[in-house]
Amino acid sequence: MLWSTLVLAAVVDAQFMQGLNHLRFGCSQITIERLDPLVDPGRMPTPHMHQVVGGNAFNASMPSTDISQIATCTTCGPADDFSNYWTANIYFRARNGSYKRVPQVPNRFLFNDRFTTQTSGGVTVYYISPGKGKVTAFKPGFRMFTGDVMNRAPKYKTQSCFRCYSGPNFGGDDAAPCTDNKRDFEGFPKEPCPGGWRSNVLYPTCWDGKNLDSPNHKDHVAYPTAGPSTFLSTGNCPSSHPVKIPQLMLEIVWDTTKFNNKAEWPTDGSQPFVLSTGDTTGYGQHGDYVFGWKGDALQRAMDVANGCFAADCGNQKTQDITAANKCVIKKTVREDVDGWFDKLPGTPMEK
Ligand SMILES: *[C@@H]1O[C@H](CO)[C@@H](O)[C@H](O)[C@H]1NC(C)=O
Ligand SMILES: *[C@@H]1O[C@H](CO)[C@@H](O)[C@H](O)[C@H]1NC(C)=O
Repeated sequence: MLWSTLVLAAVVDAQFMQGLNHLRFGCSQITIERLDPLVDPGRMPTPHMHQVVGGNAFNASMPSTDISQIATCTTCGPADDFSNYWTANIYFRARNGSYKRVPQVPNRFLFNDRFTTQTSGGVTVYYISPGKGKVTAFKPGFRMFTGDVMNRAPKYKTQSCFRCYSGPNFGGDDAAPCTDNKRDFEGFPKEPCPGGWRSNVLYPTCWDGKNLDSPNHKDHVAYPTAGPSTFLSTGNCPSSHPVKIPQLMLEIVWDTTKFNNKAEWPTDGSQPFVLSTGDTTGYGQHGDYVFGWKGDALQRAMDVANGCFAADCGNQKTQDITAANKCVIKKTVREDVDGWFDKLPGTPMEK
């Protein structure tokens, strides 16, 4: 794995030298289940499937309070992060009409990270700060949503994108997310990708400074005035949302390679992947977030003076994989999530 150490070192150096703080870590899945306490609280099951990572306070009706006081464990590397992060799953639709969930694999960025807890798929989480004193960490009870489940056209490439890996072992992984015009797509890549896909979801970086949530879970936050956020955004916030918050980003690696045989793809040549919402374009990718850091742990990482790029940024208390693997929740929606299905689980909005 020397190659990956070298590439990683180059990426880390470039960003480290800019004085940016990247708190970055893997989180294993806590559940794959049709639940959504942010958009559809109390509903069991919800219309579409999600993959969820983070603390064990997660359930259909988790309260909008300080969940770091309720959760007792987390699947994430930093032991003080009891937040929950979730996204839609992706399915492959075979030519015969059957669906199969696309498996996820751990991110290459974490192979050399002794704090990674990302095993069975899961998500890599980033919190980025432009430097000491530049962002205000989220408050207990804070929640937000990014993306538009109904969107079916290009709109916000720098908020949500899919990278097409050009070869095995994460080939072509050497540019910041959503910035590579050849390999990053806002919608699903249209041709088979030799190394699978990586998707990124970048949350807004400006807050109104008052509301911990809003009816659509979006209005209390905003993207910078210069346009949608980018990986390293330091853009100005609109006057309605003057408080800069950390750049939260999710990174997910999808092993689409077992579905690269075009003989299995639709006869009309269209690509066969679909989000669990029923979206066949990928433009409706979205992310949910419920903040749950204990005390000032997140703020500490955002306020490192000379830049950092790790799971233990700002002297985080980290846990190893054996501790994270012990963190489980009891499923409330009991259904198979791994077989071949005649239809997508639930009642997705459209085909
Ligand atoms: C979710 O957890 C809370 C405690 O954190 C509990 O009060 C509530 O009943 C739980 N809801 C479900 C649906 O399990
Ligand atoms: C549909 O095709 C897939 C992939 O070839 C196969 O694994 C599955 O069993 C098929 N399902 C049915 C119902 O024939």
